[in-house]
Amino acid sequence: MSKIKIAVIVGSTRIGRFADHPAKWIADIARKRPEFEVEVLDLLDYPMPFFGEARASEAESETAERWKKKLREFDGFIFTVAEYNHGPTAVLKNAIDLGDFIQKPVGFVGYGGVGGARAVEQLRLVFVEMSAASVKTGVHISFPEYLSVVKEGKSLGDYAHLNEAVKNMLDQLSWWGNALKAARAVVTAAA
Ligand SMILES: Cc1cc2nc3c(=O)[nH]c(=O)nc-3n(C[C@H](O)[C@H](O)[C@H](O)COP(=O)(O)O)c2cc1C
Repeated sequence: MSKIKIAVIVGSTRIGRFADHPAKWIADIARKRPEFEVEVLDLLDYPMPFFGEARASEAESETAERWKKKLREFDGFIFTVAEYNHGPTAVLKNAIDLGDFIQKPVGFVGYGGVGGARAVEQLRLVFVEMSAASVKTGVHISFPEYLSVVKEGKSLGDYAHLNEAVKNMLDQLSWWGNALKAARAVVTAAA
């Protein structure tokens, strides 16, 4: 069976962001699994206009096209989700609006006071509307773990409950990734 191509999307572009920790951690774990091919997509590398913005520069519009085209390479997605004012970052929501995730599975690694849960739950609703399949298990990095990484140099992998959540999420991404890839192939062949 061919590999499931997974993009890990870094959902914050803030200077000094925490996002790099969960992005590297989850990508490294996913890469160890034989069924996945993993690439990290950093929104810093995709400076895009707001959706439909009239004043978008040519370069920004081209980047938005490049983003949408890049997403087509993948069979599934993992988002690192920072929580800003109980929602996802604006830069991530805009990148999602500019993207295409139809009939593909999505998973989340949230972080913040309550593990980014409020932002992740908002994104689950967004992805229903975008015809994506949100997998059940989210990975939620709460404040004690967050602080231990930032202030004590600990690793996210030091936490058994986080590793277990990652395993479950990747198992689900694997199942949905295969199922939806096969289903998309049938529909394409019939067209
Ligand atoms: C504008 C702003 C709003 C925030 N709002 C929340 C929030 O509602 N809930 C929360 O848990 N953390 C909140 N935080 C703290 C973030 O979880 C923390 O800064 C985190 O590091 C942000 O992710 P990033 O560093 O990858 O950008 C907020 C941070 C900022 C900058």
